Amino acid sequence: MRALPKANDICWCGSGKKYKRCHKLATEAIRQGDISPPRIVPDEIDQPLWAGGKDFDRWDEPHVKSPDVISRMRRTGQLAGDTLAYLGTLVRPGVTTEEIDAACHQRAIEVGAYPSPLMYSGTVMPFPKSVCTSVNEVICHGIPDDRPLHDGDIVNFDVTLFKEGVHGDTNATFFVGTVDEASKMLTVVTRDSTMRGIEAAQPGNRLNDIGRAIQEHAEGLGYGVVRDFVGHGIGEQFHTDLQICHYYHPRLTDVIEPGMTFTIEPMITQGSYRARLWSDGWTAVTTDGSRTAQFEHTILVTEDGPEILTTPSDTSNHPFWQL
Ligand code: MF3
Ligand code: CO
Ligand code: CO
Repeated sequence: MRALPKANDICWCGSGKKYKRCHKLATEAIRQGDISPPRIVPDEIDQPLWAGGKDFDRWDEPHVKSPDVISRMRRTGQLAGDTLAYLGTLVRPGVTTEEIDAACHQRAIEVGAYPSPLMYSGTVMPFPKSVCTSVNEVICHGIPDDRPLHDGDIVNFDVTLFKEGVHGDTNATFFVGTVDEASKMLTVVTRDSTMRGIEAAQPGNRLNDIGRAIQEHAEGLGYGVVRDFVGHGIGEQFHTDLQICHYYHPRLTDVIEPGMTFTIEPMITQGSYRARLWSDGWTAVTTDGSRTAQFEHTILVTEDGPEILTTPSDTSNHPFWQL
């Protein structure tokens, strides 16, 4: 067996950099970095109830949306898709998740939207940033910080925008530089699982048909399906009471109806599907440190089948369509 390189050795990859500044970083566990203060949203932008860190009450929102809500969700959904695709173009080794957050925040404001994660209430603290950035073994809700992305990382960005009184929620996994084959396979399987879940969202099917399709695909190939985080109804509220499990749940027998809007957002793991939460109350990591990937779309059920509301206007640089 070849000895592990020492920290100050020249990296084996040919970059000419010291090992500790190069591939050593990509194999280290993710730790909490420094988080900058929340960014400001101008008053002209319509703000959700939690803006400024306020507590808020949820209300009963119908699962089947009016034509008016649906047309607003089409527009906000596409803006969220466009913003996510744009963030993907910024991914390269050395870029910090803080810089991704700044770019997301600025783009949201430019298009007249509020970045929904910002100050969203949590158990320990409100979410302090404008996008979730989840690297390697981080399952979801990673908080952007000063850690630079390293060659070989995988990272998913979860963009949610609020505009015209409705939310659009979407996520994709991106490769940083050159990633190993196992990470590529994990990401492709996660994309394909998401696609199968979406295809199962047909009127007349039951809600648990979605999770069944996702689970059969992912577990059939030896991957894990995270249980602790689920898809959700969405519309005038970020999260409604409607739950979309990504595994087969026998009691989710509600019939899928035209006009329903919800997210499908499976988190797929290389190893254990079990999650552990950091003390920040947000960052969820795999208990075994194995990598995990995620894709998410906001879906409208139509008479003819599922419609993805978070398709960007240009799909040519978006991994959901290009992987
Ligand atoms: N976008 C996430 C979802 O898919 C929710 C993030 S909540 C936040 O449901 F506060 F962490 F942003
Ligand atoms: Co999301
Ligand atoms: Co969501």
